[in-house]
Amino acid sequence: MRGVFICIEGLDGSGKSTQAKRLTKKLCEAGYNAVFTAEPSKGKIGHFIRKRLFEHKRLPPTVEALLFAADRIEHVQNTIVPALKENKIVVSDRYVYSSLAYQGSAGLNLDWIETINANAQKPDLAIFIDVAPELVLDRLKRKKSVMENFQTQQCVQEIYQKYVTQGLLKRVDGAKSKNGVTEALYTEVICFLKKIKA
Ligand code: TYD
Repeated sequence: MRGVFICIEGLDGSGKSTQAKRLTKKLCEAGYNAVFTAEPSKGKIGHFIRKRLFEHKRLPPTVEALLFAADRIEHVQNTIVPALKENKIVVSDRYVYSSLAYQGSAGLNLDWIETINANAQKPDLAIFIDVAPELVLDRLKRKKSVMENFQTQQCVQEIYQKYVTQGLLKRVDGAKSKNGVTEALYTEVICFLKKIKA
């Protein structure tokens, strides 16, 4: 099978990181060659971004968007494309829809965000784990980043929903039990893999 690029999107605290890791594990157990990765990436720009977010220092939105886009290019070149060339299934915890939703929620033009990300590899399948903003912030027991306030999360949610409506993001109900969400996510991915194989 050729390489397949899947990204998992959602609000902070939606469980998407856990679910993306569980999905990768389940795919490997089923005999697929799957690898997990995440954004912000482990590269220099990714480290810088993460540090800023947890220092509660939000950068000007334009700078933020350009940094995430630059981190993405590094991520694509160093991790995603090499794995796809080895015909692996790449599962990324966040990708370009995070920039559209988060930097879009900061007031940036969505077309411009798309333009600065135009050179990044297109995902074959993008999935949104849908959990209400009211629920996610309650779930976050860890130290919160600067993004994790109700107003931001609500606006981020609205932008994600827009892409669901346009059919660009597949919605998975994230309000189910942890195992229920894993099953729904896995079923969605297996359906897609069967479809592209046929
Ligand atoms: P997150 O997935 O929460 O990382 P971790 O689980 O390691 O803390 O991502 C950190 C924050 O970065 C999150 O609030 C969303 C934000 N973000 C953007 O604003 N734009 C982007 O393009 C990406 C990839 C993330």
